[in-house]
Amino acid sequence: MFEKLLSSKIRYSCGKSLTLFKTKFMGNRISIHKIRQSRIAEVDFNNIPFGKIFADHMFVADFDGQQWKNFEIRPLERIPFHPANMAWHYGQAIFEGMKATLSEDGTPLLFRPEDHAQRLNASARRMCMPEFPEDVFVEALSQLVQLDKAWIPTMDDSSLYIRPLMIATDEHVGVRSSETFKLMVMNLPSGPYYSKPVSLLVEERYVRAVDGGVGEAKAAGNYGASLYPTKLAKDKGYDQVMWMDAHEFKYVQEVGTMNIFFVLKDKVLTPNLSGTILRGITRESIITLLKDKGISVEERPVSMEEIHEAFQNGTLVEVFGAGTAAVIANVNRIGYKGTDLHFSSEKWTLSRQLKSEINGIRKGRIPDIHGWIHPVVLEEAAVI
Ligand code: COI
Repeated sequence: MFEKLLSSKIRYSCGKSLTLFKTKFMGNRISIHKIRQSRIAEVDFNNIPFGKIFADHMFVADFDGQQWKNFEIRPLERIPFHPANMAWHYGQAIFEGMKATLSEDGTPLLFRPEDHAQRLNASARRMCMPEFPEDVFVEALSQLVQLDKAWIPTMDDSSLYIRPLMIATDEHVGVRSSETFKLMVMNLPSGPYYSKPVSLLVEERYVRAVDGGVGEAKAAGNYGASLYPTKLAKDKGYDQVMWMDAHEFKYVQEVGTMNIFFVLKDKVLTPNLSGTILRGITRESIITLLKDKGISVEERPVSMEEIHEAFQNGTLVEVFGAGTAAVIANVNRIGYKGTDLHFSSEKWTLSRQLKSEINGIRKGRIPDIHGWIHPVVLEEAAVI
């Protein structure tokens, strides 16, 4: 495998006038430094709030302006950065969200890691950052998850949430692309992101993304920019914002934390990928599962007027969000032009079925006919 890496190429053109650099897998391996004393005994696995508990190890790698190097798995720790670190100033920061689960025989299973690697690199291109070799990414994740295997929760609705993050690291003040970068991956044992249905406010003043912007990239700034409108929505009693298109505030885009699906009596509607919404991997998985069932799915511009009309004439039967963290979150209320559309999500069957299928595939209980599962079967890694 490592010979193959030696010849893999990355494109990194920002400030380098489209030069092609060869990626050399320096040292030809990921060095692994195991934690001396695991922190796992401190964790109550019956209470693992999302995003707060970190497993023992992290993966790190550095881009030195020419190539990715220093591939290392080591105990999770704080990393010191210079105050002029460019990511803090100019926002060159992208991330991913992925999940690992345990099969019934105890094998760690990664869900669609190659697709996450590709999406990370699509975000990197848009944000003028270097692509990371996809095979090294999957290899690093496999090693990391193998090492943190004991941290993978087994309860339903729980998993090991994996957070890859790439940031600029040049120490420089002045707007230009950084030349150096760091990739970090951390593991978080996590319960559900939403433990109950969510309420959404249709946003009619602020926008998340515009044509030609960075809406499709999983860029940290997209989330930063969403915080103030989300706070305003929360002040009005809603959980999340439902973003609309930036031109007419007419077409639904996505929710702050997930893509959105509307189930009508005869079909399912979801906004098409137009460059302004996140290319959700759970979104794509849900569309595939729906089509497997022979349910018609329309990926197209979906206007809020159409949804309101379907609500009024009784053809709108379910509304749910889909994302890696959220999996599937039912919507119980949508605030639109001063009125609320209320839903009784307790009786919904399709969203429940989809959630149990996706969780079943993730845990190896349901056959993986689409090749989404990457079992982690590794020799015990050499430890330094
Ligand atoms: C994910 O679903 O993985 C995300 O990154 C969204 C965030 C709300 C946690």
